[in-house]
Amino acid sequence: MESQKTSSNSQFVIAPSILSADFACLGKEVQDVLVAGADWIHFDVMDNHYVPNLTIGPLVCEAIRPYAIKDGKPAVIDVHLMIEPVDRIVPDFAKAGANLISFHPEASPHVNRTLNLIRDQGCQAGLVFNPATPLDHLDHTLELIDLVLLMSVNPGFGGQSFIPSTLNKIAQVRARLDRYQAETGRHIRLEVDGGIKVDNIAEVAKAGADTFVAGSAIYGKENYAQVIDAMRAELGKSGRS
Ligand code: DX5
Ligand code: ZN
Repeated sequence: MESQKTSSNSQFVIAPSILSADFACLGKEVQDVLVAGADWIHFDVMDNHYVPNLTIGPLVCEAIRPYAIKDGKPAVIDVHLMIEPVDRIVPDFAKAGANLISFHPEASPHVNRTLNLIRDQGCQAGLVFNPATPLDHLDHTLELIDLVLLMSVNPGFGGQSFIPSTLNKIAQVRARLDRYQAETGRHIRLEVDGGIKVDNIAEVAKAGADTFVAGSAIYGKENYAQVIDAMRAELGKSGRS
């Protein structure tokens, strides 16, 4: 099962955000970026309420599902919910073929319930922290999560600049997840989202991230493979694996 594979594998993952793709030919954009060497598809859901923008929902997730194939197997669709409330829409995304569903804890009054709901629907679960959101929610949730997503921009738009104080936060979460893995043997991914480019991805990896969302840096260029190759070359220099 996909959830087994992603939680036991600590290799670097590059997850292009289709927010910066050409929406007029989204299936092809998904296919092209995976052929170009991407690992996951990052799927940004915005509701014009929790964040000041409106994007895509379960119908679009279902529509791209047949195109999100890598090496003959389904690639992970990594759904990032920037919506409030969260729970009502979770089963719809699970039915639409999402593999991993992350949400912002301040957008759900019952975080434990939402995490269990995501898992009961057969998906992996993630918690997302905005740049100024403290990490307290990790105190009581680690056993229920598969991924911590740190925002390195304020959510709502692609193409913003990386907020440098995120590096320190990444290092804090890395230390915590390493301790947790030493105690339990369970690997939780650490994903960073916002302003990731070829020229800062190594620094983000060095701080401790293993999963990298990149929207404009990849979809904003003509040659996706060239950007992804350059990112992997930088990751190779980061001294982590
Ligand atoms: C921002 C989204 C990001 C965004 C990243 O709210 O969650 O996933 O698309 O875009 P870039 O890589 O352009 O910052
Ligand atoms: Zn995102």
